[in-house]
Amino acid sequence: GALKGSIVVPGDKSISQRAAIVGLISIGSTIIENILDSEDVYYTLKAVESLGASVTIKNNKVIIKGVGLGNLMSPKKPINMGNSGTGARLLIGLVAGSNAIVTFFGDQSLSTRPMERIIKPLEKMGAQFISSNGQNLPITVVGARFKGITLPITHKTLVASAQVKSAILLAALTSRGVTTVKEPFKSRNNTESMLLERGVEINSKTIKSGANIVKIKGASYLKSSDISVPGDPSSAVFLVVAALITKNSNIVIKDIMNDNMRLRALKVLIKMGGNINFIKKTKKKLDIRVKYSSLSNISIPSKDSTALIDEFPILSIAAACGNGKMSMKGLGELRYKESNRFLAIELGLKRCGINIKAIKDNLEIIGQKNVIGGCEINSKNDHRIAMAFNILNLVSEKPIKIIGNNSIVTSFPSFFDTFKKLGISIKSYD
Ligand code: S3P
Repeated sequence: GALKGSIVVPGDKSISQRAAIVGLISIGSTIIENILDSEDVYYTLKAVESLGASVTIKNNKVIIKGVGLGNLMSPKKPINMGNSGTGARLLIGLVAGSNAIVTFFGDQSLSTRPMERIIKPLEKMGAQFISSNGQNLPITVVGARFKGITLPITHKTLVASAQVKSAILLAALTSRGVTTVKEPFKSRNNTESMLLERGVEINSKTIKSGANIVKIKGASYLKSSDISVPGDPSSAVFLVVAALITKNSNIVIKDIMNDNMRLRALKVLIKMGGNINFIKKTKKKLDIRVKYSSLSNISIPSKDSTALIDEFPILSIAAACGNGKMSMKGLGELRYKESNRFLAIELGLKRCGINIKAIKDNLEIIGQKNVIGGCEINSKNDHRIAMAFNILNLVSEKPIKIIGNNSIVTSFPSFFDTFKKLGISIKSYD
């Protein structure tokens, strides 16, 4: 059937996790409204509590009483970060600039994700790391200020990653000097905005080549500031594509965060011919109407891959249903997400009968009028792979059985309920 009706998208994951983390190091209370109720956020809240913050809930709002900068507690027990790369990397960065000693661990997926990309710069800043192979969780972090000081550094990241950049910026808060991070392309800047709002001297500029340079000065304190979390654009895009590919659909999605970089996937879908109208727009949020559309595939250059990094799984589904060839370039980083998403997209779409080719770090998809389906997709507990293939199910001739739907709780627990609200009937195999 078609998707009909109006829905409010749940809170943004990146902002929710950062709200908890900056709340921990702020002076006074931080009141967080519309925090995302998901597993990744839950693990981050539990972690900030273990590091000394008080976390309470009143009138549906989360209240964090911070410990200030440099007062982190060394918890007696290791901290479990579940599946959350953002939570783990940002908190490892924060602890690296503190005088605490903390052990972090995570689930099977998080335990295989590369950490040397944060360990190397954080070691230069004075932190020490103990792990079995120098690159994976479990990792014990001995903060630079345990016996010494946090050194400001200049660091060039190999990949554009908001998580790596944020880990260094959070560590740099306790240094007495200016730390510079240069990334090959601009990654999402939520950490920078939140620190600036709390009085930190931080600025960034993007140069001609596309590289982004961020400079941060160590601070003596962060003033607290309340946060109302806007809707997650990365979750909204799943609903957008579902409506675009399902005949007769017409839906309204409300309260999506109005952030240029995070809305890049919507721009791609509009360029593909998607009928997406911005019906209300404020500085912070927007409401959109999405109608079923005939999509034409396009070419996405590698310079756009950082801004679209979380959206490639669902953009691939749109491409599978579009006309012509979709070419998506520079997708190497997809191999290091919650699962190897590059392989998951390639093998998954092949299984569903789609013509897809992987050439080095690029994917080429030839869209089809009819998607055959009738196969099994193991999401390897990756929420975005599970959600993407559930959406392909809306248009496939034979049902696609998805293994690992439980992983969706990490970012969008109300995913299936949302589809029910929009009029889609869902049958479970379990
Ligand atoms: C995130 C950054 C991105 C993204 C992730 C959330 C963040 O990772 O994939 O889902 O909140 O900082 P990288 O910037 O490391 O690629």
